[in-house]
Amino acid sequence: MSHLFWYPGYELPLKHITRAENCYLYAADGQRYVDLESGVWCTAIGHSHPAVLEALARQAAQISHTGYAYSNSILEEVARAVLELHGFAEGKCNFLCSGSEAVEFSVRVAQTVKPRPLLLTLSDSYFGAYGAARQQAADEWYAFDWQACAACETEGNCNAECSRWAAIPFEYLGGFLFEPGSSSGLVRFPPQKLIRSIAAAVKANDGLVLINEVTTGMGRTGKWFGYQHYELAPDSVVMGKGIGNGYPVSVAAFSPGLVKRLGDRPVLYAQSHQNDPLGAAVARAVIDTITAEGLIERGRQMGALLKSGLKGVQARTGKIGAIRARGLMVAVELADASPLDFTTRVQAQLLRAGFIVAQRPDLNVLRIDPPLTIGERDITEFLETFEAVLSEKTDGGKDGNG
Ligand SMILES: Cc1ncc(COP(=O)(O)O)c(C=O)c1O
Repeated sequence: MSHLFWYPGYELPLKHITRAENCYLYAADGQRYVDLESGVWCTAIGHSHPAVLEALARQAAQISHTGYAYSNSILEEVARAVLELHGFAEGKCNFLCSGSEAVEFSVRVAQTVKPRPLLLTLSDSYFGAYGAARQQAADEWYAFDWQACAACETEGNCNAECSRWAAIPFEYLGGFLFEPGSSSGLVRFPPQKLIRSIAAAVKANDGLVLINEVTTGMGRTGKWFGYQHYELAPDSVVMGKGIGNGYPVSVAAFSPGLVKRLGDRPVLYAQSHQNDPLGAAVARAVIDTITAEGLIERGRQMGALLKSGLKGVQARTGKIGAIRARGLMVAVELADASPLDFTTRVQAQLLRAGFIVAQRPDLNVLRIDPPLTIGERDITEFLETFEAVLSEKTDGGKDGNG
């Protein structure tokens, strides 16, 4: 019996992983697996990256945790580096531990600045394990279902003649919390013009634009941040997952304009590990590595290779219904006729062949989100194996590919 709580609906087929390096996990029996999921979309620059290990060791030896009454110069340095990524030079940020916490903090700041009753979000967004954004109480949130807008001919000319648009209570909105593409794990990308129209209308009504980059950030979608595909000028950006590369650090960042509007109103949020230097040191190592190793461009190139390869597999096997991809954020929806247990079997056979992809329980969707450091060879070998498994020419063969 395991003494741990595991998330329901997932099996635990790899029980004895002993080591991880870049895109690979190694099991106790020596088998190697290509981690095409980056853990939970976290290891943006690959497991155990030397720059992160070095930052952890160096910072932990100096100071890892501070209380409310004392600080450390690294926090200010890293805050500047994070803010620069968004052009928020005179802004402020808060380092936290999880994406959920950083989203919650951003929402608290927005609600302090604009104490209007409602925040707008898209109905398929995911914001975390708990907190206001998770609960989305009806008296605090207006959830907009954008699916019908994807096929709308007048998309981008949103106006009161459209009943969906007319129903959005802009005058009661304090802000718009936008998550550019994860769609609760389904990887759907809301239309650019619609999002720009919503953001403009929210701003015109003096509301705030808050972005959740927990999954889409740090190069995952082929740009530093997912909102850059939408050309938005956010008031707040939340980062998690990839910014810690597996270490639990997240950041809620705020524009100078928002900080000015906040003025000296206190944001009441206390958490033991907020603004810990250790997490900040890791975030800096990740940002510096992405920059120094040109990983945004590399991720974009590897994403293009993966997508075109998947299209080939789709054409040749007829087993893939849809491929949704931006950079290295990819979802493959198996064809309608594929029974659900086929998807589960495909995932299990890929694992036997040494490739880890994710399946959302009860859906015909496989997710592929490898580190930005993945190499061409791993992508090519994965595509060959995927094609063979889909065509039922192999059951995955031996366990692992090491
Ligand atoms: C889009 C999005 N936002 C927020 C979160 C919450 O992050 P965390 O699990 O680190 O609390 C997640 C987690 O999967 C996520 O996918």
